[in-house]
Amino acid sequence: MITRYTVFLLLFTISFNASSFNNDWGKTGHRVTGEIADNYLTEKAKRNIANILKGKGLAFVSIYADEIKSDDRYKGYSPWHYVNFSFDKKYGEETPSKQGDLVQGIQKCVEVLKSEDSSEDDKEFYLKMLVHFIGDLHQPLHVGRGEDKGGNDIQVRWFRDGSNLHRVWDSEMIDYYGMSYTELANNTDELSLSEIEAIKKGEVLDWIYESQSLAKKVYASANVGEKLGYKYMYNNFPIVRAQLQKGGIRLAKILNDIFG
Ligand code: ADE
Ligand code: ZN
Ligand code: ZN
Repeated sequence: MITRYTVFLLLFTISFNASSFNNDWGKTGHRVTGEIADNYLTEKAKRNIANILKGKGLAFVSIYADEIKSDDRYKGYSPWHYVNFSFDKKYGEETPSKQGDLVQGIQKCVEVLKSEDSSEDDKEFYLKMLVHFIGDLHQPLHVGRGEDKGGNDIQVRWFRDGSNLHRVWDSEMIDYYGMSYTELANNTDELSLSEIEAIKKGEVLDWIYESQSLAKKVYASANVGEKLGYKYMYNNFPIVRAQLQKGGIRLAKILNDIFG
């Protein structure tokens, strides 16, 4: 017999599972980064990229790395979406994961794209992966603590629903804001040339450390079980917007270096 309790249990299970483990800047975040990057590409880089992607845009391919998670043949790429290392150490002071991580993943993508020996198929694959991973790099909790899976194990409430800290930063805030990826990409903060230069400065590891230092603040921003809502959004969404914009500018920098 289907009692009210059974229905409640079913709904609870569905909503808990839906919210308990999901691993990426949501689709919107990745697409924003790709779309912003487009605006900073040189003409030559644009042409080369259009050739490799056969006309598909950076926003369109930005979620490919998540789509292939449903295919067991690509299982080996799952650890490439994040990197965990002690907050008081530099990357590499502890032995990096043998399964690979975000830093090694990005290195591999750049290597393949720079090599004259790479096949067209490999170039397409690794370009799509690179666009995604530069997005992930800018989600602070993708450079979070391993023991709580970058905040995935920290349950919180998002308004009335169950969620976790990682998911709040991947997608809840961005989705709550209610803008499409093009609207978000078209409404970035206006930056001076020197501000853009400051964002482009450095390399992947510098940006990883920047994300990790934001991750420390993110961990301090919420307690287990806390109900997060309007105030959390007000305090933290500006950081999300800034990270998406930096991600776009830095993705373009890397792509211009390779293809420009
Ligand atoms: N997703 C799954 N495991 C993770 C981790 N350790 N850090 C960040 N994101 C993750
Ligand atoms: Zn994530
Ligand atoms: Zn990812």
